[in-house]
Amino acid sequence: MEVKGTTQVYGLIGNPVSHTLSPMLHHALAESEERNMVYVPFLVEGNLPDAVKGAYELGIQGMNVTVPHKNQVLDSLVEVDHLAKALGAVNTLVRVTGGYAGYNTDIIGLRRALLEEGITIAGETIVILGAGGAGRGAAFMCANEKAKKVYLLNRTYEKAEEIAKQVNLYNGSEVVVPLQLSSYATIEESSYIAIQASSVGLSNPEQVILEEEEFYERVQVGYDMVYKPFETKFMKLVESKGKKAYNGLKMLLYQGVASYELWNSCVIPEEVSTSLYDKMKMQI
Ligand code: ATR
Repeated sequence: MEVKGTTQVYGLIGNPVSHTLSPMLHHALAESEERNMVYVPFLVEGNLPDAVKGAYELGIQGMNVTVPHKNQVLDSLVEVDHLAKALGAVNTLVRVTGGYAGYNTDIIGLRRALLEEGITIAGETIVILGAGGAGRGAAFMCANEKAKKVYLLNRTYEKAEEIAKQVNLYNGSEVVVPLQLSSYATIEESSYIAIQASSVGLSNPEQVILEEEEFYERVQVGYDMVYKPFETKFMKLVESKGKKAYNGLKMLLYQGVASYELWNSCVIPEEVSTSLYDKMKMQI
C-alpha cells in the first residue's frame, strides 16, 4: 500500500493492541477493493475521550475499539446504534458529522459466523458458557435472533443474572435464564446449541470451562468464540460425542468485514471473505 497525500487512515484503539490481526484483515479487504487506505493500531493507555476527539480532528475515517475501551467509548460518541447501546459495548466507530457513530460488529460477526456454519438460532435452545463481555454479546444476539430459550451459565451467578435481566428487559421477554455453571444438569431440554464465551482456555489450551461428559452428551453443535488454539479443548469435547464444533476465527473475520462494510458502505463478496479466512488461518 503506497501512502499518498490522499490515503485514508483507519485505526484500532485498545490496550494492548500489539497482537491484533486487524491490520492484515483490513489491508487485504482494501486491496481487494483497490482502496487506498491504511489501518493503524493505536495503543491508548490514558485519556480515551481525548484520543477519540484527536482521531476525529486528525481526519481518521473509522476506528475499531477493543479491550478495555469498548464500554467507556460510548461516552465519546455522537450517535450509538440501538443494539450496541443496549449492550453497552461498541467496537466500531464510523465517522459522521461532528464525531463518530458507534456500532457493535462483534455480535454481527458472531451471527454471520453461526449462519455460515449452518447454525440457526431462531426457535432453538442455546446454552452460553460464560457471562463476561463475550457472553453478554452472545446473549443479546441470541435473544435478538429469536432463540426459544437461552441459558446463560457462569461461575459467578450474579453476573449471569444481571445480564439476563438487561436482555429480558430489552426484549420484553423471559428468554434468557441465568444459571450457576455447576447447575448445568438442571437444564430441562434434552439437546442444545452450546456457545463457549468464557476466557478459559485462552492462556492454557488444556483448560475448559466445563469438563463433565453429561454436559457434552446433550450438545447438538458447539461454537467456541476462542480461535487460538485452532482446535480448542471445548471443541474436542463436543467432537468426542460425534458432534460438530467450530472455533471463533470466522467471528473475528466477519466482525472485521462488517466494520469495513460500515465504513465504506459496501458489501464484500463471499469469495473475498473466504480467501481472507484462509490467510488468517495461516497467521494463528
Ligand atoms: P470477556 O470480556 O472476554 O468475556 P471477561 O469479562 O473477563 O472476558 O469474562 C471472562 C469470563 O470467563 C467470565 O464469564 C468468567 O467467569 P466469572 O464471571 O465467574 O469470573 C469466565 N471465567 C474465567 N476463568 C474461569 C474459570 N477458571 N472457571 C470458570 N469461568 C471462568
